Amino acid sequence: MANGNVITTHGLTKRYGSSITAVDALDLEVHRGEVFGFLGPNGAGKTTTLRMLLGLIRPTAGSAVVAEHRPGDPKGLRRIGSLVESPAFYPYLSGRENLKIMSDYAGVSHTRVDAALEEVDLADRAKDRFGTYSMGMKQRLAVAAALIKDPEVMILDEPTNGLDPQGVVEMRALIRRLGSGNRTVMLSSHLLNEVQQISDRVAIIRKGKLVAQGTVQELRGESAIVVRVTPVDAARRQLDRMLGAAAVTAVDGTLRLSVDPNKAADINEALVGAGIKVSELRAVERTLEEVFLTLTGEAA
Ligand SMILES: Nc1ncnc2c1ncn2[C@@H]1O[C@H](COP(=O)(O)OP(=O)(O)OP(=O)(O)O)[C@@H](O)[C@H]1O
Ligand SMILES: [Mg+2]
Repeated sequence: MANGNVITTHGLTKRYGSSITAVDALDLEVHRGEVFGFLGPNGAGKTTTLRMLLGLIRPTAGSAVVAEHRPGDPKGLRRIGSLVESPAFYPYLSGRENLKIMSDYAGVSHTRVDAALEEVDLADRAKDRFGTYSMGMKQRLAVAAALIKDPEVMILDEPTNGLDPQGVVEMRALIRRLGSGNRTVMLSSHLLNEVQQISDRVAIIRKGKLVAQGTVQELRGESAIVVRVTPVDAARRQLDRMLGAAAVTAVDGTLRLSVDPNKAADINEALVGAGIKVSELRAVERTLEEVFLTLTGEAA
């Protein structure tokens, strides 16, 4: 796949009427084999974007390529599994029977059914009626339905919606597993923590616009150590020698050191050894939650 992107959008835009811009000139890049978290508060445009990627609705402007095809192209759709609206399962049929019906629709052999049930850890309960499933099991069956085609790309809209904490943990583990090989998984969520733990890269949108895209580490920014020391000039000379002058910045009576926070003990030892008093030494690391709050202006 050219440049390793499985999903690319350029200026992707969806307007409703003249006043609502649900998705506003979005440029996304999802790399092959990664788990990509698509984050934003309620109403940010996540579902609208995913629906455009699947060809369920047409963009007002801009373009997208998913699995080397335009959204909605049957050749592309064969390679994409999705969970955007919960599929309608028959309550009086078993999980396995429901999936067999879906595999018939998809033109896929029934042999995929048991593999998909196995993948979502439902093989034990496959013969039970769907109507007797817990919420978490229903959601896992929906993921199994998305897996029927053994897709190379999975697009999941809020897959943990409605699950209890245990169900969320299981779904997270499942998504991580699904995305562990060559398969690419894009999942949306308004819950930051949930996505941060399992995503290789994330995009954050707000009011339809992309506000950040990158690895969790990139978005959190550089970590650093802040020290409060006296005398500050002598400390600075010592630290310049030790870390290089470029790594040391004076900020509000403290020195900010652009180094790995794991170096804290070494730095403390060197300063104290040089007769410098250290009254404060702490690591600064933004959580993704802080970044999200700053970028979206809303609590995650
Ligand atoms: N069919 C539609 N007609 C008019 N406005 C729409 C339509 N679909 C979505 N919108 C509007 O587009 C915006 C984005 O909605 P969308 O459902 O994509 O957000 P979301 O990020 O998925 O939110 P949530 O986290 O609540 O699911 C909202 O303002 C919504 O009201
Ligand atoms: Mg939504």
